[in-house]
Amino acid sequence: MASVPSLAATVSQRVSDALSAALPEAGSADPLLRRSDRADFQANGMLALAKRLKGNPRELAAKVTDALPENDEIADIEVSGPGFLNITVADGALVRNLAARAEDERLGVPVTDSPRRMVIEYSQPNVAKEMHVGHLRGTVIGDALVRIMEHRGDEVIRRNHIGDWGTQFGMLIQYLIEHPHELDESGAEQGTESGGNAAMSRLNRLYKASREKFDADAEFKERSRRRVVELQAGDAETVALWQKIVDESKRYFNAVYHKLDVLLTDDDVVGESAYNDDLPVLARELEESGVAVRSDGALCVFFDDVKGPDGNPTPLIVQKADGGFGYAATDLAAVRNRVGVLKADTMLYVVDGRQALHFKMVFETARRAGWLPEGVAQHLEYGTVLGTDGKPFKTRSGESVRLMDLLGEAVERAAGVVREKAEQGGLGLSEEEVQDRAQQVGIGAVKYADLSTSRSRDYVFDLDRMVSLNGDTGVYVQYAYARVRSIFRKAADTAKPVAHPEVELAAQERALALQLDAFGDTLATVAETNEPHKLAAYLYELATLFGPFYEHCPVLHADTDEQRENRLFLCDLTARTLRQGLALLGIRTPERL
Ligand code: ARG
Repeated sequence: MASVPSLAATVSQRVSDALSAALPEAGSADPLLRRSDRADFQANGMLALAKRLKGNPRELAAKVTDALPENDEIADIEVSGPGFLNITVADGALVRNLAARAEDERLGVPVTDSPRRMVIEYSQPNVAKEMHVGHLRGTVIGDALVRIMEHRGDEVIRRNHIGDWGTQFGMLIQYLIEHPHELDESGAEQGTESGGNAAMSRLNRLYKASREKFDADAEFKERSRRRVVELQAGDAETVALWQKIVDESKRYFNAVYHKLDVLLTDDDVVGESAYNDDLPVLARELEESGVAVRSDGALCVFFDDVKGPDGNPTPLIVQKADGGFGYAATDLAAVRNRVGVLKADTMLYVVDGRQALHFKMVFETARRAGWLPEGVAQHLEYGTVLGTDGKPFKTRSGESVRLMDLLGEAVERAAGVVREKAEQGGLGLSEEEVQDRAQQVGIGAVKYADLSTSRSRDYVFDLDRMVSLNGDTGVYVQYAYARVRSIFRKAADTAKPVAHPEVELAAQERALALQLDAFGDTLATVAETNEPHKLAAYLYELATLFGPFYEHCPVLHADTDEQRENRLFLCDLTARTLRQGLALLGIRTPERL
């Protein structure tokens, strides 16, 4: 495992050294290197520097170029405009650097020397309820972040904070006691999609039946209320039935996770109920320390800057007047556990943006209580999934859309695309192969559409667009990968392609090579900003640059053997980068499409 800095980083360092040499009074300044279409890179750090030193930016820039020692990386550097530096790198240096990266399984991307201990909380569906389209974003974004951070070298603890506690269980359990066969299995296999769906429809039936009775029958309502007390007191029969409902739900969640191809397992589930025993202790501590105060019998935390529409302060309610604990108390306990017991130094909460105020209050309360050091917890908000009408995505009858149905539809559409493409290309796929690829393409399409949108923005769920071969789609990037792989099948060279730094590069080769150079730096940015869409954008750009390269630079019919090998080398690194990058987003790469 050898990490290889990007050529961009090396060039930036060279310019920065020259800058310090030419202008000792500047100290160490960032030359602010950017990709540019005038040259390979443009450095515009001289502008701010000139302002600071009260000098002329063009003169400063000229001094910097003069101070640059002979080197292998920079082929040309010139001052332009108000004081930019336009930099062209040497073909040989570019290819040599990529060759070093290709030697490494991690493509030269370093493992961090400052690993974090992270909790990433994501997905968090509610027991006895459907997973709907709203759960898609959290699940997919959280999963990509887990993969990216683990790849960086962080130690990641996944947490699926499921909603498995609350008064609604009284009604469900009471109904089960009175109708003991309500959850009996109908024989569907465990661990399969149909098994998961069957579990969910049993739960739906239970939910509906008990709700109806609860609303219509006052005595049942009262029995349900007493059942909640039994549950909280840990009565064995009650807890066993509660567990049965939770397990049934997990069966369904796991079927969705399997279909969605995410990492979450039962080991990651630590639901709201897990913190039960901590809540009275926590409440006492908050009250004794004065962080929380009694207000109309409830235990509350107040904030100067959180007020309701009436101008009165809106508190975070730790304990209700009837003694019950709710959502906020559980979250406080989770914070305390993750920092105090799990020793997390970084916590990412991937949760809908509409819960921003809740997390602001929870984190601030935990901070006041001394449970949460500054800068450890972050709520990664995500936007809403919209329908093509621009409103929150709903079925025609106005219900929220079941995630499982949506995924099924995506796979079906993808099968159409795969079949058509295979017929065009004379691929002669069996129906099984079509289905297999459709799975990877359909799920990939849904995930890519989600991940390529900046996290906090809303986006329109449009399957037609998502499975299109044109535009910024998962299929497009997957297709670029399959196309590169097909070159190798045609080339029939089995040896690993060797780079030839002595071969001059065509413009399209340089563009592709410079994009390849940016892989590691992109991953570093993504891990720093928690923004997977930057990785998606990078991969899309890489896939896009492969087109003109392939068109203008014949690979198998190159002019010389060296050129052919060098192009094969670029193809190979492109494929590996696409595959690695998509894998970090949780998206598969079929070898043929
Ligand atoms: N289960 C909750 C819901 O569906 C989301 C939980 C978010 N995470 C948390 N730690 N509060 O709204």
